[in-house]
Amino acid sequence: MNQSSLQIVNPAGHLRVVVTKPLPGCHWLEVLQAAGCRVEIATGDAILSGEEIISLIGDHCHAAIGQLTESWNAGLFAALKQAGGRAYSNYAVGYNNVDVVAASACGIPVGNTPGVLTETTAEIAVALTFAAARRIVEADRFMRGGQFQGWLPNLFLGSLFHGKTVGVIGCGRIGAAYARMMVEGHKMHLVYFSPRPNTQLEEFVQAYSAFLTARGEPALTCRRAHTVDELLKECDVVSLHSVLDADTRHLIQAQRLAMMKPDAILINTSRGPVVDESALVTHCRSHPDFRAGLDVFENEPAMAPGLTDLDNVVMVPHIASATRWTREGMASLAACNVAAILHGRPVAAAGADVRSFLSGTPPPVAPSIVNARQLGLV
Ligand code: DGY
Repeated sequence: MNQSSLQIVNPAGHLRVVVTKPLPGCHWLEVLQAAGCRVEIATGDAILSGEEIISLIGDHCHAAIGQLTESWNAGLFAALKQAGGRAYSNYAVGYNNVDVVAASACGIPVGNTPGVLTETTAEIAVALTFAAARRIVEADRFMRGGQFQGWLPNLFLGSLFHGKTVGVIGCGRIGAAYARMMVEGHKMHLVYFSPRPNTQLEEFVQAYSAFLTARGEPALTCRRAHTVDELLKECDVVSLHSVLDADTRHLIQAQRLAMMKPDAILINTSRGPVVDESALVTHCRSHPDFRAGLDVFENEPAMAPGLTDLDNVVMVPHIASATRWTREGMASLAACNVAAILHGRPVAAAGADVRSFLSGTPPPVAPSIVNARQLGLV
């Protein structure tokens, strides 16, 4: 890696940490400096190849912070191990880009950044839902094109949510936050599909429904679907929040799109390959009342041919976590993971509240290590 494309912070630090992209905020750098780290940051915007990351790691590197756009495979973990590496953190909550088995085989703990993306990601899923349902982007284009000639009864008719049914596939933290926003804010019934029941969410909807009925408003229902197909057939809006793995790759394909209501709305803020994007293009072409809102794409940054021609698809460039608070928080968590592991500190309990890691001196534990159990760190 060319020295001129590197920013070096705390050159006197005795632990070398490489970071494959500049990260927002400065708390993360304070954490690493306080831990005695010399931080070397690759400053370019281009996604680094495996060879470029290996060259950045070099022959002396204690830890790395990488991006979801990079494939952290067995080769990279072997290079990190060879260079004396003892920790890796993904700058993301999702880690489908990381070969965790290979990292564990090298004895390298893998960190991720849960707990700061929940509301931020759920909020963009809501934004995409409304943009799709109320045709905001099409209408904006219409205005800018000088086409508005005055109010018309049939101009940009869209869908109303109040009293309809929202479906959430993958009901972990983000899925549940989205579900609550749609139920609480827009009085929608909820159907969710998840490997495990989300009793907290079910209890919330029950209590909220009781609150509404006590005020003379209609009750709301919440139920866990037995199958994805059942959910797809029933819901007016479907939002995807599952992890990407062998079971969820192309979870939504042509056959399942065909099961959905012709005017349903599909939102994806999870991972692009959860949807067969070419099948989605074909479906949206033949079903003009069907709408989709996408934050993620099957082969990012590319989009399936034809996707950009469709008025019934709203797209944003994988920015679901892009609020300053969240992105700075993700940087703090990644730095805390690395700093704690390099100093032999323990790992926090899964699902712990991460707010105490986001400013000042963090607690002396690694906030989130996904292979902690495999490595005997818990
Ligand atoms: C993540 O952290 O997994 C997100 O996709 C980043 O926005």
